[in-house]
Amino acid sequence: MMKEKMKDVIYKKKIQQVPTFTFNRKTALAFDDMAKRSIPFYSQIQDMIVGLSQSIVQPHTSIYDFGCATGETLRCLCDAISDRTIHFSGIDSSRDMLRLASRQSHLYSDHSLTFGCHDLNRPMSIKNTSVAILNLTLQFINPSNRLPLLQSIHKGICPSGGLILIEKIHPENEHLTPLYTHLYHSFKKDQHYSDLEISQKKKALETVLIPLSASDNLTLLKKSGFTITECFFQWYNFAGFIAIKS
Ligand SMILES: C[S@@+](CC[C@H](N)C(=O)[O-])C[C@H]1O[C@@H](n2cnc3c(N)ncnc32)[C@H](O)[C@@H]1O
Repeated sequence: MMKEKMKDVIYKKKIQQVPTFTFNRKTALAFDDMAKRSIPFYSQIQDMIVGLSQSIVQPHTSIYDFGCATGETLRCLCDAISDRTIHFSGIDSSRDMLRLASRQSHLYSDHSLTFGCHDLNRPMSIKNTSVAILNLTLQFINPSNRLPLLQSIHKGICPSGGLILIEKIHPENEHLTPLYTHLYHSFKKDQHYSDLEISQKKKALETVLIPLSASDNLTLLKKSGFTITECFFQWYNFAGFIAIKS
């Protein structure tokens, strides 16, 4: 039996050789606290995902949350969407995340809610989907696999359905990188992360979280087939995009 979810203290102590960040058991147990304290406007982003999904979801279709982690976004969606013909599906490559996500499934036994393990770097196909969500997940996919993934999502989305994409981004103009980084680190300090925690986490992520600029993300969405694309949210180096299939 896994321990209960914990506070994020993963990088609190000095680590001699900081290992590459992974979504292992330790990360999964601390994830909910980590997300709230590391992602600016995290709960507002969840609210925007719910609002956008409610507006574009269609009866008798699926909502996919790719990189669903502990299932928090899907639980918010289940709470907000009363149509019982909708199927909710969470996909993640981390079995530790999925174990935590599945734990609370019994609370949603009157919904059609399933979780599945899949590495999004590998080919996949979906069908009859009106909403697909990639909340801070595409940034962890190998850059060369991002377009094929978005193309397969586009293929499985029904007309008027859409993809909600939230990503850490780098600024269009490199001169702004130090400023955005400074503001982001100030946010993390306000969330009671120390300088040591911030620098060790940054080191751990540097080869696995690869952000693109907002314009490169929009180009990928267009190349994958989405005709209507728009940035709906930005806070310095974080942005949300909506892409609708016409
Ligand atoms: C930063 S978390 C975001 C979680 C969640 N979407 C949220 O709203 O907080 C990224 C998630 O993507 C998953 N992930 C990372 N690489 C993946 C891959 N190659 N295939 C599937 N899931 C992946 C991780 O396990 C993790 O749960």
